[in-house]
Order: sequence, then structure tokens, then C-alpha cells
Amino acid sequence: MEDRPITLSPSLSNTHSSSEEDKAVLQVSGGASLHGHVGISGAKNSALVIMAGALLCSSQDCRIRNVPALADVTRMGEILSALGVKLERQGDSLLVNASHIAQSKAPYELVSQLRASFFVIGPLLARLGVAKIPLPGGCAIGARPVALHVRGLQAMGADVQIDHGIVNAHLRGRNKRLQGAKIYLDYPSVGATETLMMAATLAEGETTIENAAQEPEVADLANFCRAMGAKIRGAGTNTITIVGVPSLHTTDYAIIPDRVEAGTFLIAGAITHSEISLSPVIPDHLTAVIAKLHAIGAQVIEDAPNRLRILPGYRHLATDIETLPYPGFPTDMQAPFMALLTLSDGDSVITETVFENRLRHVAELTRMGADIRVKGTHAIVRGVPMLSGAPVVATDLRASAALVLAGLAARGTTVIQGLQHLDRGYENLELKLQKLGANLKRLPSVEHLESPLIVPETTIAVPVAEPS
Ligand code: EPU
Repeated sequence: MEDRPITLSPSLSNTHSSSEEDKAVLQVSGGASLHGHVGISGAKNSALVIMAGALLCSSQDCRIRNVPALADVTRMGEILSALGVKLERQGDSLLVNASHIAQSKAPYELVSQLRASFFVIGPLLARLGVAKIPLPGGCAIGARPVALHVRGLQAMGADVQIDHGIVNAHLRGRNKRLQGAKIYLDYPSVGATETLMMAATLAEGETTIENAAQEPEVADLANFCRAMGAKIRGAGTNTITIVGVPSLHTTDYAIIPDRVEAGTFLIAGAITHSEISLSPVIPDHLTAVIAKLHAIGAQVIEDAPNRLRILPGYRHLATDIETLPYPGFPTDMQAPFMALLTLSDGDSVITETVFENRLRHVAELTRMGADIRVKGTHAIVRGVPMLSGAPVVATDLRASAALVLAGLAARGTTVIQGLQHLDRGYENLELKLQKLGANLKRLPSVEHLESPLIVPETTIAVPVAEPS
């Protein structure tokens, strides 16, 4: 394989250096009422996997529309660039030209920063017959193994060995293509379903994935692949059938709105007892979240197609939540919803079943006056009359959103550190909230605060590894 120098399009490069981001803080003055309309960006988790899926296209540019400007998207772009793919940002579109893939090995420094980048193993193997991807490692929310991805690829005729932390995959024997297979996933993993579905699009014969993940982002990836000529049925259900084709062609595809961002804004409305509307959204993707909002007494209506409105309400009631694979309550909404339940009347029990370490925001919410006890995977939230602003540290992406939400409702000023997490997954969150009337601003560091920040040593977490 030819080696050639890789350059990342400047438009995809990060505007902040990571050390700048690491020092920046968000100052949130609580108590403002929100009003108005907010535009919802394209789905982060669709964008990331669809960028990986564009590796399947051997002809010309694929245009992906509605791609949010996020640090994670930049990182995925860096990984594709390292493989020799050409990328260009044009407004909210990303042009991806994978007609020539120069490298089958992804660099550890990049894969370890973005776990979703491991998903390139499926399309790379399908395109080149070989892929060498470092194990991404654990992250702030759990160990996050990739055994299901590996076993599925083995079932499709790949030889997969893990040597010195690198997953080395290549086609077995004289096979020129992966072979269709019947695959049962022990758990409906989103990433494994996506990896195997992408690999199967170019395999010889039919692949079925049983107990597949049903998340909307899986269906979005399938629609993107179909637009490139792939033959996929059943995506969005628990059985996906893919009939492999020899090659895929270019397409122009717009990704779905981000259901987690939309859910976060619904909670912003609920926690501040405000009326706001949001679009575009696909309300069906938010069924579990809306059901829980209704259960606590909040009112959410679909007042126009693809638009939701949350109405100003009274004090909310407690409810129990258990995170589950889609269509269950999403783990990505657990931390934001917990912020809301800290101020709801009564006791709520939140059970995190998807990731084993996704309750680290509890300690930070507690610093703001929340009454929460953790027992194993359960968090027992006893509603309090009010939260008070405090210095807090974001421990992962969705935890950072929870702290912003709590800060909007708290009395006084909340100062949030660890914004590199927030920037991974929320496009212009501060700007969008400011336009709704929230009082918050980003400062380059704690030294720029008007009054000095006193952070007890115990709260200065050093979040290194990352989710998603
Ligand atoms: N799992 C295994 N073995 C595997 C793969 C997964 O045991 O081989 C386990 C994981 O350890 C975890 C559970 O299965 O306990 C669910 O993991 P899954 O593979 O479904 O998650 P993922 O593909 O790694 C995506 C999203 C996450 C989201 C989860 C669940 C992307 C890039 N990431 O992760 O998004 O929480 O699905 O819906 O699509 C976020 O956006 O903040 C985020 C973390």
C-alpha cells in the first residue's frame, strides 16, 4: 500500500488548542427564565458513524449534510485524514472522498481520544481486506469493550488478532471479500451493530444481525448506506439483513436531528419553568424522554410537524428511570434528567444499566445542594427546594450538560470546569442558551472570574479518557 503525507483540511481543524479548552470555564448565573425557539443540530452519533461509513464509497465525494461543528467530528475527520481520505467542510456539509485509502492502520493517539473511531474497522476491512485499529481503551463512563465487534467480524470470515493493543484484522484464506454470516449479538450494542452492518454492505452474500441495536442513529447509518447502493432491510428493528454488493457509489445525504440535544433543551425548559420551542426534531426519537417529562408533570406538545414546545409548568414530581437500549430511556439523557429530578418533589430512583460508571455527575450535583445517594448502579434522588451555584467539574459529555442545566436553575453562580467534554457533543450550547435568555458566559480560565473561585481539592477531577 502506498504511503503518502496526510494533511487535514484547515476547515476541519479545531479552533481551540486542547490546553485552552481545558482551562476554560463556563459561568452560569441561575434563575433566568427562557423563552423563544432553538434550532437543533445534526446528530453527533450519526455524524460520527456516517463519516466512518463514507469509507465504503470508492467513487468520488460523498456529501454529508447537517454535520454539527463539534470537537468529536473534528477528531473523526483527523482519523479519516490519517487514513488518506480527503475531507472538506462547506457550511454544514462535509465532503468526504475515500476513493483512495492510503492506510489501513489508524493511529493510537487519535483512536484513544475518540472511541467511535474504532468503528472504522468494519468499512476498512470491507474495502481493503485489512485493518489495524488500536483498542480504544476504557473511558470516563465505563470499560467499553469491543468483543462483539470482533466476534462479528470473525463470523464474517476475518482473521482477527489482538497484538500489543492493536486489533489486526484481515480476510481469511483466499477470500477477496468478507462473507455473509448469521450473527447474534449478546447485547444490542450500537457500535457493534454499526460496525458489522457497514462491513456486511460489501460482503459476499447475506448477513443477518440478530438482537441488533435499534437506535435511530443505526437506522440513519443504514439509510446513508442505502443511498450509496447498499441493500439493507430491518434497520431500526432488532433484526437487520444486509445483502452484500461489490461496491457503493457516491451520495448526498442529510443526517437526522440530534435527539439528545433536543432532550437537553426540553429539560432546560422544564428546569427553568419556561416555554421554549425546538425544531427540527423527530418526536418519535424522544418518546421515552417525553413520557418521563409527562410523568413528572411537564407539558410537551408537538405544535407543528418536527417541532416540539415545552410549556411553563409548576413544580415537578419525582419519577423512576431505568436506562435501556432504544426504545428505552437513553443513557445519554440520564445525567441531564437527573439534574431535573434533583428539584422535583419526592424520591426518584435512577438506574443506569447501560454503562457501569455513568453516575460520576452525582458528586458534582451534590456540591450544588442536590440530595442524591448512590447504591451500585442506582442513584436515589430526593428532591430539594433549590440548588445553589457552586464550582463544579464536568466528568463526561452528558455530565457537563447536566451541570449546565442545574446551573440554569440554581440560585447564584455556577462555574463549570472541564468544558472539553461539553465541546465534544453540543454545538454552540452557550450561544443557543444565551439566545433563549440564559445568563451564561465562557471565560478563558478561572483567573477571569469576577470573584475568586474556591474549589475544594476533592472536586478537581482530571478527566482524561472520553466517552462516545
Ligand atoms: N458492550 C460490550 N461489548 C461490546 C460492545 C459494547 O459489552 O463489544 C457494552 C458496553 O460496554 C456498554 C453497552 O454494551 O456497557 C452499550 O454500549 P454500545 O456499544 O451500545 O455503545 P457505543 O456504541 O460504544 C454509542 C454512543 C454513546 C451511547 C451508546 C448507547 C456513539 C459514538 N456513541 O456508544 O454515546 O451512550 O451508544 O446508546 O454512537 C454520548 O453521545 O455521550 C455517548 C456516550
